[in-house]
Amino acid sequence: MAKKIVSDLDLKGKTVLVRADFNVPMKDGEITDDNRIVQALPTIKHIIKEGGKVVLFSHLGKVKEESDKESLTLAPIAKDLSSKLDQDVTFVPETRGEKLEQAIKDLNEGDVLLVQNTRFEDLDGKKESKNDPELGKYWASLGDVFVNDAFGTAHRKHASNVGIASNLETAAGFLMDKEIQYIGGVVENPDKPVVAILGGAKVSDKINVITNLLNIAEKVLIGGGMAYTFLKAQGKEIGQSLLEEDKIDFAKELLDKSGDQIVLPVDVKAASEFSNDADIQEVSVDDIPEDREALDIGPKTVELFKQQLEGAHTVVWNGPMGVFELSNFAKGTIGVCEAIAELKDANTIIGGGDSAAAASSLGYGDKFSHISTGGGASLEYLEGKDLPGIDAINDK
Ligand code: 3PG
Repeated sequence: MAKKIVSDLDLKGKTVLVRADFNVPMKDGEITDDNRIVQALPTIKHIIKEGGKVVLFSHLGKVKEESDKESLTLAPIAKDLSSKLDQDVTFVPETRGEKLEQAIKDLNEGDVLLVQNTRFEDLDGKKESKNDPELGKYWASLGDVFVNDAFGTAHRKHASNVGIASNLETAAGFLMDKEIQYIGGVVENPDKPVVAILGGAKVSDKINVITNLLNIAEKVLIGGGMAYTFLKAQGKEIGQSLLEEDKIDFAKELLDKSGDQIVLPVDVKAASEFSNDADIQEVSVDDIPEDREALDIGPKTVELFKQQLEGAHTVVWNGPMGVFELSNFAKGTIGVCEAIAELKDANTIIGGGDSAAAASSLGYGDKFSHISTGGGASLEYLEGKDLPGIDAINDK
């Protein structure tokens, strides 16, 4: 059944608790990628417009000891949010207590408040991460209604998502709703034919996603570091390329079972060392030199993947095709990005994590139907798992 969304709620004069995922990369107190904050804005703006009082919750990083508090405060997020919303955002540097309760009581319609990092509660018996029932109940008591917009955290069963939802009427935010439509759409009822492109370093990280997508997609194209274990399973020599010995049998089994449903690279860029200055040879996968490491797919593979994408109605991509952070090994990932971006009439979805970062940093951020804000969450969703953060949202 469809989930209730924020626009289904009467928000006027209500204190609206919102779980966002502001777990953004930071360096020396500066936000280095604000995408998750930008993506949370439509829900926050909607609540402001409708006359609600916005109380935001998020985690940032993992809070293991007292000294983590300094670098993991949400203060920089409040500042950034305030400039993005063009209005004051009250930051309460606490996760509970009188000061927080009073600040919430003092809110007027359209005001925005951000609560301190929910994982500060982990210093006291992991209350947030273990979904302590009292904590969820306490936070729920601070508002009238709950909006969960934190798709990136949906695979966690924590007090600030599932705990609050167990005690209060809960709707999805616009971002959460979009993620359910797109990523959920791939696993539940995709427009066929479906082509999945999987990459990234390790087969072991993607076992469940490959297995599930083989049940959904007409074709599964495999590139990136994980492709070499598959090539090895076909009996090829892969030189110094990434290999997971203990996954060769799994790869072989899949190849035997799935036949031509799995498409592997036909050529690669074989480097003399793991460096942008390395000597590079473009070689067939049958000729990878013994002393070289394949760090990207080659141009013939990009062409092959392009052909496989033709006519697809749904494309889902997770994981880069090579070491795209080094410009000399980014062409495979760029080629795949371009090929997906050029597709007409296809729902094109990037399942978060490194491939989302790759698409954005390569300038293709706006060329897809949807780029997920979830890393682990989108992977688990594509694996076909139920996500507790989504399950806890009320049905329409
Ligand atoms: C993420 O970045 O994947 C989410 O914010 C969840 O963070 P976590 O892995 O620390 O729970």
